[in-house]
Amino acid sequence: MSKTIAFWGSSGSGKTINCVAVAEKLTDEQNKVVVISTDSQSPALPVYLPSKEILTAYSLGNLLMSNNFAFSNVSDKLHLHPDNPNLAFMGLTQGENITTYNSFERDKIIKLMKTLSLELDYILIDCNTQPLLDMLSLTALELADEAVRCITPDNKGIQFLSTQLPLLTDSKFKTDRHIKVLSNITPKSPVDAVCKRTGDFDFYLPYSVDIYEKFIEGSELKGFRKQSFLNDNNGYRYEQEISKLAERVKQVADTDSDTESTD
Ligand SMILES: Nc1ncnc2c1ncn2[C@@H]1O[C@H](COP(=O)(O)OP(=O)(O)OP(=O)(O)O)[C@@H](O)[C@H]1O
Ligand SMILES: [Mg+2]
Repeated sequence: MSKTIAFWGSSGSGKTINCVAVAEKLTDEQNKVVVISTDSQSPALPVYLPSKEILTAYSLGNLLMSNNFAFSNVSDKLHLHPDNPNLAFMGLTQGENITTYNSFERDKIIKLMKTLSLELDYILIDCNTQPLLDMLSLTALELADEAVRCITPDNKGIQFLSTQLPLLTDSKFKTDRHIKVLSNITPKSPVDAVCKRTGDFDFYLPYSVDIYEKFIEGSELKGFRKQSFLNDNNGYRYEQEISKLAERVKQVADTDSDTESTD
């Protein structure tokens, strides 16, 4: 039975990088993992897979406009990591933007998640900062077995929580169960002051210059498996925390509102 985990949180808090890092860790035991995003501001496929050129015909947007969610049709929109055959990505591709597609339909997203859940062990959704503006993110926050909520350690992160959480008060979003992550922490970050306002976090992820450099040059995906952060103490600590977060994700129990009970 596959598990679906939504990565959600404030803008620039590391949703994408943390989601991909956890995905990499989950493949260590030969689990098959997919990371999905409908980000149309910075289409996700060129971010996840900078070395691949992927045509619109193979984008998630194209698939969600169709009515065919058989695995034979879904599989060629799953793009494998060049060095990891157990890690795949789905998303929009270069040249696609908010005008390329009409908004995506909830029932199609559920059909897609059902198909994926039969073939894969983990479905990780790299959500939009504002889930009310993105049907994949909203549906993921509702149906995921668990959500990982990342915020930046600053006033912007605090403001994000106080603005966005009231939009998700319906019990179906299970916000009280979110795994809480304070991300991108530098020595100057006011961690204690943030915790005073928000409560404690389950995970504290340090800022690592190695991770930052790999991400901006478009090669972050190659780093996690090769322990190339060991030269940077914060990168090493980041990787350790990500391992613990991946373990926590593995322990997440399936909820009774999984995708099979929704239609
Ligand atoms: N632990 C970290 N160490 C160093 N840099 C980090 C870390 N986490 C995130 N970053 C950097 O912060 C920036 C934002 O990260 P990322 O794109 O993953 O966040 P996001 O929440 O997905 O952003 P968006 O809201 O745009 O989708 C990137 O430049 C990334 O490299
Ligand atoms: Mg992102």
